[in-house]
Amino acid sequence: MLVVDKSDPGVAAAGPAAAMLRRFHDVRSFTESLCADLTVEDHVVQSMADVSPLKWHLAHTTWFFETFLVAPNLPSYRPVDPQYAFLFNSYYVHAGERHCRAQRGYISRPTVAEVHAYRRHVDEAVNTLLDRGHDADLSAIMPVLEIGLHHEQQHQELMLTDIKHVFSVNPLRPAYHRESHVAARDPGPVRWIENNGGLVDIGHNGNGFAYDNEGPRHRVWLEPFALADRPVTNGEMIAFIEDGGYRRPELWLSMGWAAVEENEWSEPFYWERRDGMWWSYTLAGMRAIDRHETAAHLTYFEADAYARWAGARLPTEAEWEHAAAGLPVAGNFVDSGHLHAMGASPSVGGGLRQMYGDVWEWTRSQYSAYPGYSAPEGALGEYNGKFMCNQFVLRGGSCATSASHIRATYRNFFPPDAAWQFTGVRLARDIG
Ligand SMILES: [Fe+2]
Repeated sequence: MLVVDKSDPGVAAAGPAAAMLRRFHDVRSFTESLCADLTVEDHVVQSMADVSPLKWHLAHTTWFFETFLVAPNLPSYRPVDPQYAFLFNSYYVHAGERHCRAQRGYISRPTVAEVHAYRRHVDEAVNTLLDRGHDADLSAIMPVLEIGLHHEQQHQELMLTDIKHVFSVNPLRPAYHRESHVAARDPGPVRWIENNGGLVDIGHNGNGFAYDNEGPRHRVWLEPFALADRPVTNGEMIAFIEDGGYRRPELWLSMGWAAVEENEWSEPFYWERRDGMWWSYTLAGMRAIDRHETAAHLTYFEADAYARWAGARLPTEAEWEHAAAGLPVAGNFVDSGHLHAMGASPSVGGGLRQMYGDVWEWTRSQYSAYPGYSAPEGALGEYNGKFMCNQFVLRGGSCATSASHIRATYRNFFPPDAAWQFTGVRLARDIG
């Protein structure tokens, strides 16, 4: 069990700084709690290029605060090791040279214990920075601290999806946590929720935190559309498989079919067939597929092919956001501790279900800049803007997302062949 610093960091700070410092330590402690039952060996494996070792996540999130918050604002700060900047910079060209992403698993040193010492060192520097006796410019510090917290929450989700992949390729299929399965209830057939569309506003309005890529808020025109009231279930994916879904090129985009052939896809990621039964790897170990649970770990290509097979299409991100506006941000997030996409509750009242949590929902919108968008100056301007090519937008958060991290305007993005995140599909169709 790792030791988390329990000292009250808010005592020496005051007002908004104290509240922010408490949030900082809550987020940092939650990161460490995700590793609490793991071994040192579990922290260092990199099972594919997209996966980073847990130790790297622990260090990189610390480097983010060190580089963008502490070093520029605390003159007395001294790094634990100047070489950590090379090892734990991810993609910030402005911040200097960096180690190769695909070789993060080679970094057996510093040790896990040394990385935890690095975390404590930077945490103490943040305490000092926000101490009421320290003459810091809070107007400069708070926005960076805020983005650092959201950044760390993004990495918390990646830690879960990455350790899931790491364990899934281990023939022993270890469980990350213990949770006994409770059979999902039948969510019933899809109901179509119609929306008149029209001239609508999407994007963040500037009240509260949002990433730069969520704005500016702007108008879009939506033709009348309908959204499925819930995402696609495992049972529906089995029907797709049994109807030859993975063998029929007419259902797939050209690049998708090339991926099917090259990777020999014949079922969703983490699924396997044993004695005529479908099973999948979950963070609680191998489980028989529950037909009523929401399908997860689908690529964009699979989501698109399923939609075509079902006589529907994927929603656009503007349709999704317009439909979600006004709905409570509630669902199966990481806070529930299930770490698995559950089934939709039976329909009550006939509205949209599971818009938030369980699975990120693929949209058919290419991830690109909103009208009027420009990336901020400097290294933090690299956070989102430079990835606006060859990726698709996903909405709504997943069972690995923190409830305090998600909102209606949130734009996640992944390449169309990515499957290791908790990604699913909600159908849409044109009406009128
Ligand atoms: Fe990062």
